[in-house]
Parts: sequence; C-alpha cells; structure tokens
Amino acid sequence: MANSKTVIIKIKRQDNPNYKPYWEEFELPYRPGMNVTSSLMDIAANPITRQGKATAPVTYDSNCLEEVCGSCAMLVNGRARMACSALIDKLEQPVKLEPFSKFPVVRDLSVDRSVLFENLKKVKAWVPTDGTYDLGSGPRQSAEQQELNYPLSRCISCCCCMEACPQFNDKTGFVGAAAISQVRLFNNHPTGKALKIERLKALMGDGGIQECGYAQNCVEVCPKDIPLTKSIADVGGQVMWQAIKDLFRS
Ligand code: SF4
Ligand code: SF4
Ligand code: FES
Repeated sequence: MANSKTVIIKIKRQDNPNYKPYWEEFELPYRPGMNVTSSLMDIAANPITRQGKATAPVTYDSNCLEEVCGSCAMLVNGRARMACSALIDKLEQPVKLEPFSKFPVVRDLSVDRSVLFENLKKVKAWVPTDGTYDLGSGPRQSAEQQELNYPLSRCISCCCCMEACPQFNDKTGFVGAAAISQVRLFNNHPTGKALKIERLKALMGDGGIQECGYAQNCVEVCPKDIPLTKSIADVGGQVMWQAIKDLFRS
C-alpha cells in the first residue's frame, strides 16, 4: 500500500481488439471492505491516472457483485479470479489487473468468453426437454444423487479454470474442465442422461478429454470449489468405456 490511506491499482488497458495494450496506474482513497470491482467503480467515477492525466473509464464486466454471475473474471495479481470477491485488504499492492490472456480482448479488462458456450453446445450440456406441451415432472433424484450433482451445478461459466489450464490453447483446441464437468452433471441427471453417448463421443478425439494433462490448475482456481479433477477422472472413465463398447460394436 502506498500509504495507509490509498490503494494503487495498475491496469493493463487495450482500446480495442486490434490496438496494442498499455498500462495505467491509479491511486484511490482507501475504504474498508473495498474490492477490485468497487475500485474500478471508483476509477469510473473519477478517471484520472496517478500522474494526473484524464483518461477514459476502464471497461470491465460485472453484474451480480456476489460471485454468482461469473462475468467479472480477470487476472488479479496474475491469478484468474472474480474481481467482485477480490478484497483489496487481502491483495499485495500495487494491485495488478489484466484481462484473461487466452480469450480475445474486447476492451481493457473485458474479454470474449463465448468459446465456453460453444464448448457447452459441443457437449450438449443441457437436459433435453424440447416440446410445446407439458412433459410433466421428471424422474425423482435420490438425496445421494442430489448431493453429487449440486456442487457440479454451481458452475458460473467464469472461465477461470480454462485460463489457468496449460492445455487450454489454440494448438490443442481443448474443451476445458468446465465443459467436462458439465458432462458429468448432465450424464448423472436422470433425464439428461438420454444424451450421454453423444456427450461422450464429443469428448473423444482432438480437443477432447485426452488433452488434459492432469496439472490440476483448474481445481485450484475454481471460485465455486467444483471438484473438477474428480469430474475429469469420472468422465475420462465414461469416455473409455464408451470407446471400448464402440470398438466391440464395429
Ligand atoms: S487438470 Fe490440468 S490440464 Fe486438466 S483441465 Fe485441469 S488444469 Fe487443465
Ligand atoms: S468450473 Fe469453476 S472455474 Fe470453471 S467456469 Fe465453472 S465456476 Fe468457473
Ligand atoms: S459480478 Fe457476478 S461474479 Fe462478480
């Protein structure tokens, strides 16, 4: 901390996807309980750099402000995490903010994370309930099933796990831990399992589950403590069994 009354924030900025990034530094009055998002709000209210230069307010994503919507993910002091739950008191200063490095920058700290949604579509991460009429209630889930599935359903699509994963890059085309964990969730679901084979087939081959090097960075950074490595091991077993069945059928 510069002194006990101020907070220094260094931000990697980029005016549009084609421009070069540059750094700007801001010095803000300290308030107890402030977090990275509230600091960005303070900068927006008075966008003057530490050197006294007027600048454009910093672009960033946020919505719920309570680690539920998944929109505010960024690199805070080099670690993928949610800005709204990153308390300034717990961060080393100057606090360094950067956009995710593996996703296209839209502007400043805002990135395009649509690849996750494309990957979720690829693995059909939904319960098939199409129809124009009332399908009635689905099969009941046991308490044990609910206990297993609930933690998996807490994914907020923040993409922290993908940013931290050494295997998630253009070369591998790896779908990433979040999509794999959603396969586990929907394959466990009594109605969702209707698409189980299609999901497992989507995880075979290039970009599939075999790209995972089991480095476990994903589980370290997941803000919702989703048991991602267990999901990868579980779904890996399902994919293997499916591949063996396919072999005997062919
Ligand atoms: S275990 Fe490692 S390689 Fe596999 S998804 Fe997680 S971070 Fe990536
Ligand atoms: S699995 Fe965790 S880190 Fe990955 S997108 Fe979901 S909530 Fe974020
Ligand atoms: S603003 Fe919704 S998770 Fe941070």
